[in-house]
Amino acid sequence: MAKEFPLIATEVEPVLTKFRKLSGQLPNSETIEQIEQLRAAESVSMRGQPPVIWERAEGVNVYDAYGNMWLDFSSGVLVTNAGHGRKEIAEAIIKQASKPLLTSYCFPNQQRIDLVKKVVSLTPESLNKVFVLSTGAESTECALKLMRTYGRRKGGDDKSVIVSFENSFHGRTVGAQQMGGMAGGKAWIKNLDPEIVHVPFPDGFRCEDTSFELFERTLSSLGVEPGNVAGVISETYQGVGPNFMPKHYAKDLRAWCDKHDALLCFDEVQAGFGRCGTWWGFELYDVVPDLFCVGKGFSSSLPISGVIGRQEVMDLYGPNEMTSTHSGNPICCSAALASIDIIECEKLVENAAKVGPVLHKNLQSIKDEFSDVIGFAPSVGLVGGLLIVKKGSKEPDYELAWDVINLCFHKGLLMFAPVGVGGGCVKIAPPLCITTEAVEEGCQVIREAVKEATASRSRKE
Ligand SMILES: Cc1ncc(COP(=O)(O)O)c(C=O)c1O
Repeated sequence: MAKEFPLIATEVEPVLTKFRKLSGQLPNSETIEQIEQLRAAESVSMRGQPPVIWERAEGVNVYDAYGNMWLDFSSGVLVTNAGHGRKEIAEAIIKQASKPLLTSYCFPNQQRIDLVKKVVSLTPESLNKVFVLSTGAESTECALKLMRTYGRRKGGDDKSVIVSFENSFHGRTVGAQQMGGMAGGKAWIKNLDPEIVHVPFPDGFRCEDTSFELFERTLSSLGVEPGNVAGVISETYQGVGPNFMPKHYAKDLRAWCDKHDALLCFDEVQAGFGRCGTWWGFELYDVVPDLFCVGKGFSSSLPISGVIGRQEVMDLYGPNEMTSTHSGNPICCSAALASIDIIECEKLVENAAKVGPVLHKNLQSIKDEFSDVIGFAPSVGLVGGLLIVKKGSKEPDYELAWDVINLCFHKGLLMFAPVGVGGGCVKIAPPLCITTEAVEEGCQVIREAVKEATASRSRKE
C-alpha cells in the first residue's frame, strides 16, 4: 500500500520568493484537525497527497488559508493547462450558471454546439466528430467499445482483440483498467478479458528494444492473429515516465493498423491541449490516429472529457445508443471553451514548446548530478519526470521518490505523490502558463530535495 503523508506538525524553514511563501508549521494544527475530520468520513484511498488544504489557486500557485503559497508542478494532476483559477474560466462558468442553465441531458445546448465545432477545428481534418463525456476513464471505455464494435462489424466475432501496452494507464473502471498495463491495479478483476492483450512499450529505458518487430513478435507469441485485432490503444506518452515511443515506431504502428484494418487510438487524456508543446501529443509522431481520448486539460477546471475520431467510427451507434447523463453539460462546455480560448490567445502551446527545453535541461542536469539514483529523466514540452531507482539499477525506489516529493512540499514546491512503475516517478507537470524563471526555481528546489533525500538515506545506511 502507498504511504500516507503524516499529519505531524513540522516547523519549516521560512521561504519567501516570487513563487513560494512558507512559514510556521506544515501542516499546522488547524489543518491537521480538518484533515482528521476528512479521514474519519472518507475512504482511505483519498489520503495519498501532501497535507495542504487548497484554499485557492491562481496561475502557477496554490495557496492554503494560512498565508502559505506553493509553486505548483502538478497542475492538479495535469488539469489546469490554462493555469489555476483563471478569471476568464470562472466568469464563463458564472455566466452560464446564472442564465440559468445548469444541465440539459442530451438535449442540445448552445455551449455544446460551440464546443464540438471548436474541437473539430483544432483536430486533423479526418477526425471530424466528437463525443463529449465527463471523465478520462469514460472516454477510454468509450474508445474500447468503439474499437470492438468497429472490429466485429468489419471482421465478425473474431476481430475483437484490443492491443494495449505494458505499464499503460487508462483509468480505473473495469474496461479502462483492463486496458491498463499495470498488473497491481487490476488484481480485483477475476475474469480478465482474454482479448485485451499487452505488448511492451518502447520507452528506451525499461524496454530497450524500440523496434516495431517487438510489437509483432509479442503478438505472435501471444497467439494473436493480426487480422483479429480490432484496435490498438496507447497513451500518446505513458504517464509513468513520461515515456514516448520513437517516431519510427509510431509510424510503423500506424502502417500496421492500416494493413490489418485495426483502429489506432491514442489516449490523450494527459497529452492533449498543449501539454507537449503541440495541441495534440500525436503531432510529435507525425501520425494521425483513427480516434483519440481527451480529458484533464480540456477545461482546466470542471470535469469534461471526450472521444474524437473519424466519422465512420464515431457514428457506429445510432441515436440514443451512446450517451451519458452529463455529456455536454453546458457549464462544463463553457469552461472548456474559455480554457481553449486562453490557450489560443495566450499562445500557451507555444509557451510549452518554448519553456519545455528549460525543464528538459534542468532535469538532465539533476539526473547527471544524481545519476546513481535517477535512472531516466524524460521530458517533452511541459511534462517531465525523474525516475528514481535503487542505486545502480533500474528498480524503482518508491521511498526515495516519496522523500523527494515530501521535501519539495516543505520547501514550497507542490507535486503529487510518486506515480509509475513501482511508484518511482517524480512527475513534473506545471500549468502551461509557467515562465522560464519559475521552472528554473522549481527545478532548483527539486535538486536540493534530491540532495537532502540522498544524504539522509546515506546517513541511515
Ligand atoms: C492517460 C490517462 N487516461 C485516462 C485517465 C483517467 O482519467 P480520469 O481519472 O479522469 O478517469 C488518466 C488519469 O490519470 C490518464 O492519465
